[in-house]
Amino acid sequence: MVKVAPSILSANFCNLAEEIRRVQSADWLHLDVMDGMFVPNITIGVPVVQAIRKHTDMFLDVHLMVEKPHRLIDAFCEAGADMLSVHLEADSPRGIDQALRAMEANGVKRAIALRPITDPKAVLPYLERVDMVLVMTVEPGFGGQKFMTHRLEAIREVRGLIERHYPKCYLEVDGGIDLVTAPQVIAAGADVLVAGTAVYGADDVPQVIKGLRGV
Ligand code: DX5
Ligand code: ZN
Repeated sequence: MVKVAPSILSANFCNLAEEIRRVQSADWLHLDVMDGMFVPNITIGVPVVQAIRKHTDMFLDVHLMVEKPHRLIDAFCEAGADMLSVHLEADSPRGIDQALRAMEANGVKRAIALRPITDPKAVLPYLERVDMVLVMTVEPGFGGQKFMTHRLEAIREVRGLIERHYPKCYLEVDGGIDLVTAPQVIAAGADVLVAGTAVYGADDVPQVIKGLRGV
């Protein structure tokens, strides 16, 4: 079954405990870490992940939009992340390799993420070492952007590569996912959906979470 991972980027940061409670029927919690370098925005860091970890048992899916993420893997693992995603554009192949090794040493789930501009085939050297590929369907940096329809082709391509090389790998899609775009990305092969605005902007959050899963 498709998993839904609400992004707290669209939550009220003054009231995070309640905002996490609102999405407890979801599968994972998606935490967007931004450094103001890899993307033109700064959001949350290690202490916030640590505080969230103390507060909830939900699976913490931490999306690192930071330069040279290998520097921060140990810290986010110690803070309590369950999965870390690193962007292939954020470092050289050697740096990405270092980040994946650090994740393995810490025993967290490993994921690689792709900006809209990156060729889906770039995942190939890493596929058998990761638990998930994250395909961005907006330019990373901000919530509430419009879904890029042309990314459906990239989702299909990544799904094909996963089926051929490592079928147990998840395919997560992030950016502009709502009740209209969710069925499109699921049909293209996504099995984990990140949604910020669609979930936190809803009056009936559990209903939207169900709707996104398509059940
Ligand atoms: C954007 C973040 C997303 C964002 C999604 O850079 O990675 O996770 O919060 O927000 P919506 O669902 O509003 O596009
Ligand atoms: Zn994200």
